[in-house]
Amino acid sequence: MRIIGTGSAHPALTVTNQMLEKFLDTSDDWIRTRTGISQRQLISDEKLEDLAVNAAKRALENSGISAGDLDFIICSNVVNEYITPALSCIIQGRIGATCPCIDLNGACAGFIYSLDIAESYFSSKKDIKHILVVCAEEPTRMVDWSDRSTCVLFGDGAGAVVLGRGDNVKSIRLTTTSKQESLYQQRKLEHTPFITKEEADGPLVMKGHDVFKLAVSSSLRDIEGVIADGNITKHDVDHYLLHQANIRIIDTIRESLDQCSEKFPNNIEKYGNTSSASIPILLDEMNKGSKLKKGDKIVLSAFGAGFTTGACLLYW
Ligand code: UT7
Repeated sequence: MRIIGTGSAHPALTVTNQMLEKFLDTSDDWIRTRTGISQRQLISDEKLEDLAVNAAKRALENSGISAGDLDFIICSNVVNEYITPALSCIIQGRIGATCPCIDLNGACAGFIYSLDIAESYFSSKKDIKHILVVCAEEPTRMVDWSDRSTCVLFGDGAGAVVLGRGDNVKSIRLTTTSKQESLYQQRKLEHTPFITKEEADGPLVMKGHDVFKLAVSSSLRDIEGVIADGNITKHDVDHYLLHQANIRIIDTIRESLDQCSEKFPNNIEKYGNTSSASIPILLDEMNKGSKLKKGDKIVLSAFGAGFTTGACLLYW
């Protein structure tokens, strides 16, 4: 397959580090130096589905195909206002598509998981011509806004790609290592007269140091893996587009690979961590900013709760 269009959408509200200083025991200096984040866009009066639909429409417009040409929609999402139906079903109706849809929760690595499923669809179903992948996330609704160790990290947003037939995806590697305690959020379901067990409910719980270490080691393993599978070297790669979780994680991976910073574009300063939307948003910025040339070798790499990780080597 190949990417034939990209799109993204952000909420209107900008929340700067200085705005957080007003109600949290934090500082612009701490947040910038420890994470690289200066501001984030937060959902206020929008719905996540509005962002998802806008990102999808922009990706379709960029691809030149119409919603009626889509054969499948995958939406990568962790939480939204609907438990059911799937967000992809809502997107389908609002963009005017008629194809089957599914949601996927691969946490922050959801974009890479979606690409792998899309690639399998293209290989196994010969009548499939176009697939839309939309990553739409509102992690700011998962965190406790009095917990400075988590709430400063996240932003909301949506990124989308339209995929067509081609031979541009050279290799993908996915891994999952069951590890709930490092990063999780539990919610209570509706009560029934028969429930006797203890149930928990609460905001996102994160062991930052654990996630940092897992992120670096797993991303390096996945990146080296897709590069080897694609029969190229790390120096041949033109752009490394990594999950935008912390600039220090990105820098540590870059230094281990001994590459220059120009090869590691980032936008975490503006948006914070938008979960699985972070890579397609960055990809859209690079595409619309004419930073990608035909044939450029791109490595995508992400990690998230699960612990899920994945990387992909593609040629633009
Ligand atoms: O998509 C996956 C999501 N998660 C991640 O990718 C998270 C990965 N981990 C990280 O990015 C980093 O571990 C954090 C940014 C979460 C934390 O950075 P750190 O350099 O590991 O800081 P720390 O947890 O070691 O905390 C250092 C100090 C602590 O104070 P004491 O104990 O030294 O007095 C924290 O209480 O910084 C304090 N602290 C803060 N101070 C000001 C924690 N959060 C803040 C804050 N403002 N927002």
